This record gives sequence, C-alpha cells and structure tokens, in this order.
Amino acid sequence: MPAEPVPAIEIVRTRAELQPAIARHLAAKRGPGTPALGLVPTMGALHAGHRALAEAAAAENDVVVASVFVNPLQFGDATDLERYPRTLDADAALLAEAGVDLVFAPDVEEMYPGGEPEVRVVAGPLAQKWEGASRPGHFDGVCTVVSKLLHLAMPGGFDGARAAYRAYFGQKDAQQVAVVRRMVRDLDFPVEVVAVPIVRDADGLALSSRNRFLSEEERDAALVLSRALKLLEDRASAHEPLNPDDAEALVRSQPLVELDYLDVVDPNTLEPLAFACRETPFTGEALAIVAAAVGPVRLIDNMPLRAR
Ligand code: PAF
Repeated sequence: MPAEPVPAIEIVRTRAELQPAIARHLAAKRGPGTPALGLVPTMGALHAGHRALAEAAAAENDVVVASVFVNPLQFGDATDLERYPRTLDADAALLAEAGVDLVFAPDVEEMYPGGEPEVRVVAGPLAQKWEGASRPGHFDGVCTVVSKLLHLAMPGGFDGARAAYRAYFGQKDAQQVAVVRRMVRDLDFPVEVVAVPIVRDADGLALSSRNRFLSEEERDAALVLSRALKLLEDRASAHEPLNPDDAEALVRSQPLVELDYLDVVDPNTLEPLAFACRETPFTGEALAIVAAAVGPVRLIDNMPLRAR
C-alpha cells in the first residue's frame, strides 16, 4: 500500500504574515463552537520529544502553529549558540507529520529588529536557582522570547468569544515550565500552559537536541542520570525514604559525568523538599531533578515522584 501523503505545511518568516495566516487557518478549520489554537514554541533541531508536543497540540486544538527560532537572548555562551543545529527542512517535515498547520520561522533581525530588545521580561526568583544559577539571564531570555511569541500568535476573537489558546512545553525543561507558568499567571497572559511528559530513548536517556554532541562513550555514561532518578522514583512509589544521597553517589561514581545538582523539590516552587521526606517514608508528590556536564554537553533530566 502506498504511504499516506504527508500534509502540506505553510511556513511564514515574518511577523506581518503570521496573524493573517493564523486567521486563515482558523477560518478554514472552524466547526461549531469557538475554535482553539495551539502554539508549540521550539528552537528547531526537533526530535521525538518535540513531536510529542506537536501531537498533543494537534489532538487538542483546531489549528497548531509551531515556532522555530534559535533565541540568542537565552544563550550565555556564544559557542553554544553558534553550534546549535539549524535544520528547518527536517523540522518542517516532522511538524507536518505531527499535524502542525503553520510554522513561524523568523530570523534574528525579524524577531529583534534593530538589535536586542532594551525592555525584557525579568523572570524573578524562581529563575535564579538550579538552571538559572548556572546560566545567569537564561530565563529572562526565555521569558522575553516566549512572551513575544505568545503575543504574535495570539488568536483573534470569534463571534464575541475569544478563541481558546494553549501553549505546549516539554516537561524535560521542568524549570522552564514552572517559570513560564509563573509569567503567564503574574502577567495575565490569556493562554493555558500545557506540559508534555519527557520522551526517552529505550535505555532511559531523555531526548535532547544536544544529545547529538555526545560520543558513544559519553552517551553511555549519561545513562547514569536517568538511573539515579529512577532509583528515587522506585523508592517514592514503594513509599520508602528517598535518601537522595544514594542517587547522588551513583552519579558521582561515573567519571565522565560532572554533577551540577541533584535534588528532590516541590514541582511548582522548585524549593527543596522538607528534610523529613528524605529520611522517613515518602508521601505525596515531588520532582527529582538533575543536571550534569557530560563531555561538551550540559544535560538536564527530571522525574515526578509519587507514593502509590
Ligand atoms: O524550550 C525551548 O526550546 C526554548 O527555550 C523556547 C521555549 C522555544 C524559547 O526559546
């Protein structure tokens, strides 16, 4: 049987083209009731984790827009920015297969005409810890570009009602999800933030656009991160004390992995969990988080913990 044809996808490069294109797609898809638009912000170099975001958006909305923009404001390191993979043709093919209707792929001058913006979003205390401590300014850059994208793709009104608006983020960047949720709440963005679970390779490695920079040996070493989180997840499920030091010792036993942090935190505030749950049987819900350098790459991962 011949393969199903992949639906065509429209790519727009300018801010001026985006709103008319969104209105056209919403009008074409409109069934009864108020339509819904899903936005999937990405930096490209897409993998199955992004596909899961796009598929979740396609399942829940009438029209899906994905943005592909490597945002210089969120990179502290010029080399990291320069080597970040740019693969728009492959990205557009993946997004089309996943059910995305429209790709917004501006260049830097289009997104920041005349240079970097003077006025930016300050991400606040939630953004100072964990990733924020190692990457100063990173979340200000994320919030600034995400707020621009949320404005640029915001759907118009229909029959006096506002079209539903949802934005999709990967749970792998758990702190990014928490910070964006906080921004949306504090600044009254009319959008629902949806977090989509992490997609892992069969051996447990969380998918990341940066995994491609790992050698085979480094990739093997990186598996210790998901194993350490799994140790905590198993203890939490079994209602046992977490003793996170054991998970930390496991990561430190791998010489190619340089641990930055490993901790058990509240999923919303990202504050370390009360000490009691570490040494007494685990109850409730938490998030185990880890970050480490493996060769040339900084990797992050996390797992929700739940007592069963
Ligand atoms: O998660 C990402 O890829 C980026 O941080 C985002 C949300 C697209 C903003 O540039």
